[in-house]
Amino acid sequence: MKLAIGNDHVAVDMKKEIKEYLESKGHEVIDVGTNSTERFNYPVSGYKVARMVADHEVDGGVLICGTGVGISLSANKVHGIRACVCSDPYTAKLSKQHNNTNIIAFGARVIGIETAKMIVDEWLNASYEGGRHQIRVDMIKEIEETQDLKAAHEE
Ligand code: RB5
Repeated sequence: MKLAIGNDHVAVDMKKEIKEYLESKGHEVIDVGTNSTERFNYPVSGYKVARMVADHEVDGGVLICGTGVGISLSANKVHGIRACVCSDPYTAKLSKQHNNTNIIAFGARVIGIETAKMIVDEWLNASYEGGRHQIRVDMIKEIEETQDLKAAHEE
């Protein structure tokens, strides 16, 4: 797979290890940075990865900051992005199977490198199941595009 990876200053070491790990598994990984431990605003790398995913330049994205929260929130502001911050491999897997996530995020201050590797493995090995989940993913898209949700007025 072709993947994009991005991070802030807190997550430089973990990003490097995860990038190498993904490459060792045969993935092509585009690193949008940062590779400096100087203070770095996470929306920059969150946006860059999200843009590449939304524009189908890559097949998916990995984002890492201190908690994974700020960088995933930033990515989710780009239309078409479904970024999930998680700390466990089960959530990562289900986020792909049920929610069709296209970016996975986690926190370098929250989890260790082995859990991070398990998270990317589970996420990349999982496939979106579609079916009954599609109506909900479509609703997420409807909220994004219209700032409204028809079904919310019907119940
Ligand atoms: C940086 O101090 C920290 O706020 C950032 O890495 C991240 O945790 C934000 O969500």
